Amino acid sequence: MKKVYIETMGCQMNKSDTERMLGILSHFDYVETKEPKDADLLMINTCSIRQLSEDKAYSAIGVWGKWKQNKPDLKIGFCGCVAQQKAENIFKRAHYVDFVLGTHHIYKLPEIIKRVENGEKVCECEESHKTEDEIAKNYEITRVKSVNAWIPITEGCNNFCTYCIVPYTRGRERSRSSEIILKEVKDALAQGYKEITLLGQNVDSYGKDFKDRNYRLADLLREINALDGYFRIRFVTSYPTDITDELIQTVIDCDKVCEYFHIPMQSGSSEVLKAMNRRYTKDTYGEIVKNVRSMVKDVTITSDFIAGFPGETEEQFVETLNAIDEFELDYSNTAAYSPREKTVAAKWVDKFIDEDEKVKRLKRLNDKVKENCLKSNKKFVGRTMEVLVENFENHKGKNVITGRTRNNKIVHIPCDTDRTGEFVKAKITGAKTWYLNGELL
Ligand code: SAH
Ligand code: SF4
Ligand code: F3S
Repeated sequence: MKKVYIETMGCQMNKSDTERMLGILSHFDYVETKEPKDADLLMINTCSIRQLSEDKAYSAIGVWGKWKQNKPDLKIGFCGCVAQQKAENIFKRAHYVDFVLGTHHIYKLPEIIKRVENGEKVCECEESHKTEDEIAKNYEITRVKSVNAWIPITEGCNNFCTYCIVPYTRGRERSRSSEIILKEVKDALAQGYKEITLLGQNVDSYGKDFKDRNYRLADLLREINALDGYFRIRFVTSYPTDITDELIQTVIDCDKVCEYFHIPMQSGSSEVLKAMNRRYTKDTYGEIVKNVRSMVKDVTITSDFIAGFPGETEEQFVETLNAIDEFELDYSNTAAYSPREKTVAAKWVDKFIDEDEKVKRLKRLNDKVKENCLKSNKKFVGRTMEVLVENFENHKGKNVITGRTRNNKIVHIPCDTDRTGEFVKAKITGAKTWYLNGELL
């Protein structure tokens, strides 16, 4: 058996792709190693959402190139979103790379490796307009986590927000067939997974591209909810305007679907949203979020925001800080705007915000996120909540289990036995910024 090591960067979609790649490779005499130095095949699954993520990819593999000088049989693969975008150019930048594999054809991996082993340099970055479901069902998936299974239901994106590279790295939106998704869900449940997370760049537009079938995310959630067993269902990421009342009602009706929505707002200013090509205003976003909050008890709503989008004024930035308060957003991912090749906003150089100012705004944004996160966590002190345990470790001399509530709050509970994979009841005893403390009941 040969050994493969895969370094994964970026979002859950990339992490899920890595699990699929490991599954495919396990059919072709490769076992996973966690130690890159032991590997015969080194692969990096890259992210290009920001310049920093792209730079990290190149710096991470620099050392691999050096190892290859003493180990000529070592093979190196450059995969994922940067690969999709840069294709053959990767070879110019890192001549020691043996193959470049974009995001559309991970199932060609066995054939690519065979060619590489025969001394060829291979680049496979053609865009595909189909999902690879037919091939996918023949491979098992080597999942990284033991409790939570990620299952992509759509790939790609059609929205072309003016700052975002994803439509270029992941291609047009394609929904996977519900039969294959259900098969993957059933397989994961049979293997003992307790939480199913349905993934998509816009998970709530699932099914819009089915020409001969009216079947949407709500239908899929209802079908998965009807499967036997005690488990949880989540779905990320939701595009605000695709959250229908039917979807909200489905979350309420389905006991296994958790009270958690990730609904990125990106900016609190309607003018900035327009420049970003988001299809809602501050007020329409607010209505959607208020609707979700009033209908779904204890719901956690999280968001993403960009600080310093080209042309963003101080007043517009303050509207973002205010929106976080007004809509009681429980947590948000944040980033300073980073210009990305090919995207529309990257051409608005004369409107770029000064780097120092962007950093300052990002810090103010993070402070606001922290403040609201603590406020949101405090609401649960004294409550009894169900926690799905994901981890057991000794922290500063004390044994602790860590898990999540249905509404996605992290809870640390002192406990001397490893309860990973179990649902436990905990009384919440305290709230910190990023987590809750609890006691077993
Ligand atoms: N499909 C999701 C987002 C996927 S990308 C949505 O529409 O909300 C994840 C996050 O990265 C985005 O929500 C955005 O906040 C951030 N992001 C994307 N492009 C960026 C850029 N050029 N600079 C900074 N942050 C960016
Ligand atoms: Fe990017 Fe916008 Fe698509 Fe999200 S919806 S992936 S931000 S283009
Ligand atoms: Fe990054 Fe690609 Fe995900 S650019 S955020 S890994 S879809």
